[in-house]
Amino acid sequence: MALVKERLEVGARVAETKHVRGLPTIDADAEQATMNNMVQFAGELGVEKRLAERLGELLIEETIRVEETNQQVQSKDQLLKEMFELTQKLTSQGRKVSRFEIGEPNFSPPKEVIQGLNATFRKKKVIGYGPSAGLPELRKAIATHLSKQHKITIESDQVLVTPGARFGIFATITSFVSALERVVIPQPAWPAYEECVNFVQGRIIPLNTSFEDNWDIDLDRLELELEKGVRLLVLNSPSNPTGKVIPQEKFKRTVDLAAKYGTMILSDEVYDRYVHSPAPSILENDCDNFVYINSFSKQFSLTGWRIAYLVTTKPYALKIRRALQTAITCVPEFVQNGALVAMKKAEPEARRNIKAIMEKVELTCRELSKIDVSFHKPEGAFYVFPKANKLNFDSLAFAKQLLEKHGVSITPGQSFGDYKEFFRLAVSLPRAQIPSAIKAIGAALDSWP
Ligand SMILES: Cc1ncc(COP(=O)(O)O)c(C=O)c1O
Repeated sequence: MALVKERLEVGARVAETKHVRGLPTIDADAEQATMNNMVQFAGELGVEKRLAERLGELLIEETIRVEETNQQVQSKDQLLKEMFELTQKLTSQGRKVSRFEIGEPNFSPPKEVIQGLNATFRKKKVIGYGPSAGLPELRKAIATHLSKQHKITIESDQVLVTPGARFGIFATITSFVSALERVVIPQPAWPAYEECVNFVQGRIIPLNTSFEDNWDIDLDRLELELEKGVRLLVLNSPSNPTGKVIPQEKFKRTVDLAAKYGTMILSDEVYDRYVHSPAPSILENDCDNFVYINSFSKQFSLTGWRIAYLVTTKPYALKIRRALQTAITCVPEFVQNGALVAMKKAEPEARRNIKAIMEKVELTCRELSKIDVSFHKPEGAFYVFPKANKLNFDSLAFAKQLLEKHGVSITPGQSFGDYKEFFRLAVSLPRAQIPSAIKAIGAALDSWP
């Protein structure tokens, strides 16, 4: 116990140093090395490996707890929501705000979907519990649709209906990732992945990509990580926040690398329809260690309905279904019927809306090229991720002042990783507001700080 106490005291001092130097609390490589040392030493002493690992996990967890005790670190996801909440507060006070911070299409749900919803209530007096995996008709429709889209065979029992893609991701990560297991997340990234990994006390291995490299993943660096043992690799193409689409050849090489090292892939493809030409999909790659994520949110403007789906192998589907059963019982039947109607009848409207949003992205890029920022034109999704051409730019401080003084709301780059010179524009605001809002950003940048 004296040695344990000593270790925790050292941990507290290390935390102070890390804090002063702006280093993250968790260093997955150092943890791995500590664990390897313990296991090796245990082997020499004839102590069972499993016991050494359990003791190691306990000590590492406790040290992290001690290190984090005095640091109220705000998560990236909280940061993203903070801008949303600040904006809501201002708009509820009657302030007009040009909203570039919400990642949702600004269209009403298709009218056929509302009619479909009402039809469920007319048909049924009681809407009870349903199957945890989703309504068989909806799973079948999704399987048929994806089989056609990707020219492969997907069966209904590979499909699970989830309350939002976010929950599909949560259910996948809680089902497959254990404490201390490593998860590679290419950055910049939507922060929910990181939240889910933190939830299970897994270890995030950020794989930073850069503006200079056109947000390309460096496969050599990826392989160096995979070699050390990685449970899960997250791919999000088209990407939130950069709009990057991983090219076909690169996608395939990434999938092959993951297969070589036995790493599972979570491929979040919720923006697959916001592209000029079809984006590569995990479903079209020869991979049997994957979970594919998609959603009705962005395709059919159904964000608040909380309805999405995932596709995986049958054994994995059984495992994730247990998580759904445990946590939610099922997605409400009327919501699922609404989604089914969307697939059958709302396709033309969805296509029109997606086209309109993509045209707004074009307009946004044209306007951005008139102000002092650098950016890559997104190849997909409806986000632009410009870089302010300023030294030591702090996007968070800028975002707050921009909102207060100019009534324009953006998301700071810090929400997506180590990208404080960048900010994200989610192009879901009315078209007419775009030119003046970007002009205001330009003016605010010119007079910053
Ligand atoms: C990359 C990505 N995946 C998933 C989601 C969430 O989708 P859903 O509304 O289905 O939970 C979002 C939402 O912004 C996202 O950007």
